[in-house]
Amino acid sequence: MKLQNKVAIVTGSTSGIGKYASFALAKAGARVTVTGRRSEKGEQVVQEIKANGGQAIFVQADMMHEESYEYLVNETLQAFGQIDILVNNAGNIIEKSFLELTVDDFQQFITLDGYAYFRMMQEVIPHMKNGGSIINVTSLAAINTIPTHSLYSFVKAGVTQMSKGVAQEFAGQNIRVNCLLPGAVDTEMVAGNPNSDFIRSLIPMQRFSTPEEQANIIVFLASDDSSYMTGSSIVADGGVRGI
Ligand SMILES: NC(=O)c1ccc[n+]([C@@H]2O[C@H](COP(=O)([O-])OP(=O)(O)OC[C@H]3O[C@@H](n4cnc5c(N)ncnc54)[C@H](OP(=O)(O)O)[C@@H]3O)[C@@H](O)[C@H]2O)c1
Repeated sequence: MKLQNKVAIVTGSTSGIGKYASFALAKAGARVTVTGRRSEKGEQVVQEIKANGGQAIFVQADMMHEESYEYLVNETLQAFGQIDILVNNAGNIIEKSFLELTVDDFQQFITLDGYAYFRMMQEVIPHMKNGGSIINVTSLAAINTIPTHSLYSFVKAGVTQMSKGVAQEFAGQNIRVNCLLPGAVDTEMVAGNPNSDFIRSLIPMQRFSTPEEQANIIVFLASDDSSYMTGSSIVADGGVRGI
C-alpha cells in the first residue's frame, strides 16, 4: 500500500490507460477521482475499485471546457480533503496528412492534449501543500514521429518540455512532475486503426503495450519509489527508440 493516505485525480479514466491507472493507484492505497465524459463507464470503474476494497468517486467533466478544471479539483477536495497526485491523461490522437489538417483540428487538439494539462497543473499545484506527484501522459511521438503525426507530435513534445519547466519551478516544494511516453498501447484510441500492422512492424517486441503495463509505471512515478525523479520522462515503447 505505497499510496496509502494519498489522493489522486486521473483525467481520462473511463477507459484505456487512465482506467487501468485508476485501478493500480487504488490498489496501492490511493483514493481516486475518476473522470471523463462517459458517466456509465466512469461509474463502472468506480464500482470495480470499490469491489476490490478501494475508494473512488466519479466526476463527469469535459476537458475541453474551462470550467471543468476547477470543478474537478473542488469535487475531489470535497470528497477526500486533499490532492497528492495528478495524472494528466485525457487525450486523443490526430492522424492526418499535414496539408489536410484544419485550423479546427489544431485548436481542438491543442485544447485537449495541451491546454487541459496546463490548466489542471495550475489548479492542482496550490493544493499540494505537503508535496505531490504529477504524471503527464504524453507519447513516444514527443521524441519520435511518423508521417501523419505532425500535430500530435507537436503537442505531445510541448507538454513534455513544459513539464520539465514546471518540475524545476516546484522541486523546492517537493512537487515532482514527470512524463510517461507510451509507445503503441492497446486501447480504444488505437482500436481499428488502419495503420496498426505498420506500427506493430516498427516495434521490436512485436506487440502493443497493455494499458496495465503503462499503469504500473504511473504508480511508480506517483510513489516514493521515484522520489529522486522530477522533470524526467519514461519511455515505454517496446524498444522502438532503439531502431
Ligand atoms: N493508445 C496509445 O497507443 C497511446 C500512445 C501514446 C500516448 N497515448 C496517450 O495516452 C492517453 C490516454 O489514451 P488511451 O490510449 O488510454 O485512449 P482511450 O482509451 O481512448 O482513453 C482516452 C480517455 O480520455 C478521455 N477523454 C477524451 N476526450 C475527452 C474530453 N473531451 N473530456 C474528458 N475526457 C476525455 C476519454 O473519456 P470519455 O470518452 O469518457 O470522455 C478516455 O477516458 C492520451 O493522452 C493519449 O494521447 C496513447
